[in-house]
Amino acid sequence: MRTITLINGDGIGPEISNAVIQIASAANVNINWEIQTAGSEVVEKEGTPLPSRVIDSVKKNKIALKAPVTTPIGKGFRSVNVQLRKELNLYANLRPCKNFEGIKTPFSNVDIVVVRENTEDLYAGIERMADENTAESIKIITREASEKIADFAFKYAVNNKRKTVWAVTKANICKFSDGLFLDCCRLIAQNYTNIEYKEILVDNLCMQLVQNPEKFDVLVLPNLYGDIVSDLTAGLTGGLGLARGANIGDNYAVFEPVHGSAPDIAGKNKANPSALLLSFIEMLKYIGDYSSAEKIENALLKTLREGKILTCDLGGNASTSDFTEEIIKNLKH
Ligand code: NAI
Repeated sequence: MRTITLINGDGIGPEISNAVIQIASAANVNINWEIQTAGSEVVEKEGTPLPSRVIDSVKKNKIALKAPVTTPIGKGFRSVNVQLRKELNLYANLRPCKNFEGIKTPFSNVDIVVVRENTEDLYAGIERMADENTAESIKIITREASEKIADFAFKYAVNNKRKTVWAVTKANICKFSDGLFLDCCRLIAQNYTNIEYKEILVDNLCMQLVQNPEKFDVLVLPNLYGDIVSDLTAGLTGGLGLARGANIGDNYAVFEPVHGSAPDIAGKNKANPSALLLSFIEMLKYIGDYSSAEKIENALLKTLREGKILTCDLGGNASTSDFTEEIIKNLKH
């Protein structure tokens, strides 16, 4: 039996984690959860939202499933998410977005994979007040990280039979930083002659994504644009409640939804657990348990397709527990 670290997060984190634990157990998935708490409630007891025991657990088990953790705006501790990605060198953030049958959106053929650089850019956290009225943030882009993420995107395209990789930047304005990122993408593209390589500016991409999302395939972006664009693509296919994600490095992988801790609905039994469940399904595929992944995915897709029991974000009025029970019921059919 394989042990997996489960960081159950805060806000809606514990509710959606419980849903996934119940579904995994009903599907007889052969894993043992090592539950690690992190986030706002841990700070009071342990003085940090990300105690070293959490990192140690992921290092030991190599794989983790992670629910969202709150990052206070403008003050307090550094983001647990950013810190975890840095400490484990999870340099690639993978966010696939595809339409779901039964979930109505303005588009029907969206199938986009966002590959976001995960360790640098404005997330390096180098900020200061230059004087009382002037704030400065430093955007770090390195050749090493840019070549690595570009290579990851092209490898992903090859392994998943995708046709095109688009490099997304604002290199017309950020000539040095995004210019370097673009140079690295161009260089790496030369090693993958069977994959088409295209470039687009991030503002133009956003406009085209809401007009013709069907034309896009794999997108590779620096950290900040990747963060924003992946919420946009999540919106194209049913919203944050359905958007899965993974943070992948050479030694460790942490699977987590795109969404945050949703404080507005936390503790109300309203959250949609699908994004965490879909991230779990990706995790099962990653560790080679395709049969459990397929079984759970079919039960979730059936629940969405039938549309009888859906959470509020999907236009229904079911609770997290009702929705979870329906998926468990559908595991058996
Ligand atoms: P959010 O993603 O938590 O919420 C945005 C909106 O989507 C809210 O209206 C929320 O109710 C809804 N929503 C999100 N997930 C949902 C779900 N599973 N089911 C139903 N509705 C859902 O974004 P927000 O409000 O900007 O961030 C809240 C906190 O989460 C912040 O502290 C932020 O830093 C943190 N965060 C953490 C992430 C992580 O742990 N990886 C990622 C993004 C944000």
